[in-house]
Amino acid sequence: MKLPAAEPEEGPVIVTTADLFRVAYGRFAVGAYNINNMEQTLGLFRGHVEAEAPFIIQISKGARKYAGIPMLEGMIRAAETMFPEAIFAVHLDHGDEQTCYECIDSGFYSSVMIDASHAPFDENVAITRRVVERAHAKGLSVEAEMGMLGGVEEDIKVDEKHALLTDPEEARLFVEQSGCDSLAVAIGTSHGAYKFSGNQGLHFDRIAAIQQQLPGCPLVMHGSSSVPQEEVARINAAGGKLDPSAKGVNEDEFARAVPLGVTKVNIDTDGRLVWTRVQREYLRDHPADFDFRKPGALLITEYAAFIVNKSRKLLSAGTLADLRGALA
Ligand code: G3H
Ligand code: 13P
Ligand code: ZN
Repeated sequence: MKLPAAEPEEGPVIVTTADLFRVAYGRFAVGAYNINNMEQTLGLFRGHVEAEAPFIIQISKGARKYAGIPMLEGMIRAAETMFPEAIFAVHLDHGDEQTCYECIDSGFYSSVMIDASHAPFDENVAITRRVVERAHAKGLSVEAEMGMLGGVEEDIKVDEKHALLTDPEEARLFVEQSGCDSLAVAIGTSHGAYKFSGNQGLHFDRIAAIQQQLPGCPLVMHGSSSVPQEEVARINAAGGKLDPSAKGVNEDEFARAVPLGVTKVNIDTDGRLVWTRVQREYLRDHPADFDFRKPGALLITEYAAFIVNKSRKLLSAGTLADLRGALA
């Protein structure tokens, strides 16, 4: 636990990511959502309290730059006070080595992700090992990435053609040698709105093979947005120009991935689509309006509804009471 609980009598609020994974593994997946602003933060907490689901707040390097580090921390601490029932962890998303150290030393984070997946295997192991040593010394856990996700990760572009699925045997060696606590695996997903064409989807056989090599190791699925077609259609009807072939992960497949060890599911793009739809429709329908609180309030409500739906699909809805008992 990195932060004092705001309401100790309510049970733990900010918990370690390791604690969440221990309870979740094989039973449900913890949704991990990126935040950048206040409306998103309020919707995130409101939705999870309503769904009675734990969650992970992810902070990217881009978010740290956009909102500012003190602002992000301030928003999370404020939300913690406003929603004392919430149980969540705070995680650095796609960190480089230096940012991992900053987050580890800040005392604010529950866990960090070191993303050295662009480096050759031995270098990835060495970098991850260094981060693990610093993190474990302070009680944080570490997510690492092996294999390459197609698409764009922060400022790293990976040619779609070189998108490789994680090799199960290599994954076991990587975890053994690096000491990481969870592993982001390439199992067919990629970041952004354009993940799949045709009938492509998750590679369940590969997830199962990885689990066989790494029983009990929480697997992390990046690029897990579902890019609902209805959302894309509404955005385009309100003036957007998204490619209508945009396609993501079928969210009914989360339940199949959970028993195979997928314990953390990263979602960002879908939240951005909620923002885009709300803003576009509101401005289209209220051309004379200029009070940003009206679309802002709508965004909080819509974001919370989006979170409730995701929590059900991830099987994390309704688990808070059990979790509180397990963590007590
Ligand atoms: O995988 C990256 C996340 O979607 C965060 O995106 O770097 O634009 O904040 P960002
Ligand atoms: P999406 O682009 O599918 O939302 O993935 C987000 C992610 O993996 C953040 O690390
Ligand atoms: Zn990611």
